[in-house]
Amino acid sequence: MSRNDNVLTQPAVVLDLDWVREQINLRDLVSTMQYLHGQNFTLLPAELEMILDDPKEILVGVFDFNHVVSLAQATLVMSPPTWHVLINNVVTHGSYQRLGLGKRVLAALESEIKQRWLHDGLRLRRKSGLPPVPRIKMILTNSLARGNGGFYQAAGWISRGPDDQKPTIAWYKNLEELSPVPQSK
Ligand SMILES: CC(C)(COP(=O)(O)OP(=O)(O)OC[C@H]1O[C@@H](n2cnc3c(N)ncnc32)[C@H](O)[C@@H]1OP(=O)(O)O)[C@@H](O)C(=O)NCCC(=O)NCCS
Repeated sequence: MSRNDNVLTQPAVVLDLDWVREQINLRDLVSTMQYLHGQNFTLLPAELEMILDDPKEILVGVFDFNHVVSLAQATLVMSPPTWHVLINNVVTHGSYQRLGLGKRVLAALESEIKQRWLHDGLRLRRKSGLPPVPRIKMILTNSLARGNGGFYQAAGWISRGPDDQKPTIAWYKNLEELSPVPQSK
């Protein structure tokens, strides 16, 4: 992909379903996201629609015309006593790295998280007459092998990796459909 210099001044866009439908088209956005993330990334237009329509999801991107070239996703988990936000799918296209785009995307994502979930409490708390959410903990997982820790450090993130006094490890377990779901008659 050849880079247009105007991308350096493009603001990070908080993706909104109507905006995507009108300006980009869901299918086109999915194909540029696939291009951005690489081979193992799969997403159906209907799944992207669900994400963009979900108040517990935020997607932020920088575009070079219709191509998304830097992206990040936040997902709210209401887990008392502290609400958590999982940050995922942080990526800048290889031809656009080290230009400050990832930093711009993360800053915009953080600002949107604060506005929607910290101050406004997903509207649920205000609606119920409760005070704003006092604190949100953002979390992400990242492989040391990627060697990109400096990116998160520069953005103010703290690692609980092996060199920390209280290291944290991520556990995972896959739940998979072993046999096809029976079709209802
Ligand atoms: C990590 C990644 C998202 C960084 O995006 P980027 O757009 O190139 O980052 P920026 O240009 O905005 O860099 C912001 C800051 O982080 C630093 N930085 C960026 N990449 C870095 C790296 N690999 N190692 C150390 N520091 C890095 C920059 O020097 C810059 O510092 P500054 O603000 O002091 O000048 C990008 O390299 C990428 O997509 N990598 C492959 C996928 C990946 O690793 N994603 C993260 C999965 S958790």
